[in-house]
Amino acid sequence: MDGEFLKRVREKRGETQEAFAKLVNAKHNRKYDKSRVSRWETGAEPIPTEVSNVLLLENMSYDKKDSATIISVGNRKGGSGKSTISSALGFTLSKVRRNDGSTCRVALIDADSQSNLSLACKVDRTRIAEIDAAEKSFYHVLMGKTKPEDTAIPTQVPGMDIIPSSVSLAFAERELILRESYENIPANFSLRVALNDDFKRRYDFIIIDCGPSLGVTTLNPLCVSSFVLYAVQTESYAVTGIDHLTEIIDIIRKGAHPGLKVLGLVPTMFDKRNKQDHLSLQEMAEKATTIRRDAGTVGVPVFSPIPRSTNFANAAAANEILMNVDVAAPGVITFVEIAAALGVRTPLGE
Ligand SMILES: Nc1ncnc2c1ncn2[C@@H]1O[C@H](COP(=O)(O)OP(=O)(O)O)[C@@H](O)[C@H]1O
Ligand SMILES: [Mg+2]
Repeated sequence: MDGEFLKRVREKRGETQEAFAKLVNAKHNRKYDKSRVSRWETGAEPIPTEVSNVLLLENMSYDKKDSATIISVGNRKGGSGKSTISSALGFTLSKVRRNDGSTCRVALIDADSQSNLSLACKVDRTRIAEIDAAEKSFYHVLMGKTKPEDTAIPTQVPGMDIIPSSVSLAFAERELILRESYENIPANFSLRVALNDDFKRRYDFIIIDCGPSLGVTTLNPLCVSSFVLYAVQTESYAVTGIDHLTEIIDIIRKGAHPGLKVLGLVPTMFDKRNKQDHLSLQEMAEKATTIRRDAGTVGVPVFSPIPRSTNFANAAAANEILMNVDVAAPGVITFVEIAAALGVRTPLGE
């Protein structure tokens, strides 16, 4: 982010340099003054990440729609950043202002039996076991045993709820296929039946963190989603994972859900000093030009790469979402770009 950009956004907010310094100070308990803001704007001093993060996260708005936009985050490869991207995107979208001044409501759905997303939202193992026993996990929603609105619980982020997953989800593959034969609900449509209109009206965005499978537990999220986001680690063979997901999306489009769109690729764990990471990024960019965005368009965006930072893993180990505990978290710009692709007005688009 450069100084001119900061100046433009500040002026658009109708704030003096002094008022802007006050805003950052109040947010982060700092002691910046107007001459410091002036030095950032003229380029005399680099803008600290915590300042650009405030600028980005505090200036997003959205026209409320009747029903939530549903986004699935996928890649068959485990450890490709899906859960981290799901929680960070949820956090970012929960900062977006709606026309009435309130902030967007977000539901996360943990569709991976490993429960990493639930853990990051402070639903610990004991609680997960209790939720499972009470039949209130994602598995129970998927199987039609409970309503989604009775399972979504608040997270540590205001305005963001989660439907946690439990180990039971590991049995869903087989049971959904059985259910298809005796209840006549297609195995890949169970979630479409379960996510009722009432639930979808409660939220602006629903983000589904898919597991490392291309079986029915991932087909179900894809069949209810408006968009798919590919989580791709910048490493060799990363494009193989892209191809697997693309094949499944193409199959789904041919039958179950012709309207499924690809929002784009999110490169992550990018180490700018590593040559291989640059090569992977280039490969991803080439691959992106061949993926069908929707029925009529070929080519999808590649968002700015999320840098590799041990802070992400440290936050995960502490059952936290990095952006929620670190005002200078890297990667915020990527999530603001994704928000913009979802129709959110952001400072980037001005
Ligand atoms: N940008 C990043 N830099 C460094 N580590 C990351 C980054 N994003 C995710 N991680 C870590 O990599 C591991 C796998 O990420 P995760 O989001 O759980 O992947 P998936 O859900 O695809 O299995 C986790 O330990 C996570 O904390
Ligand atoms: Mg995961």
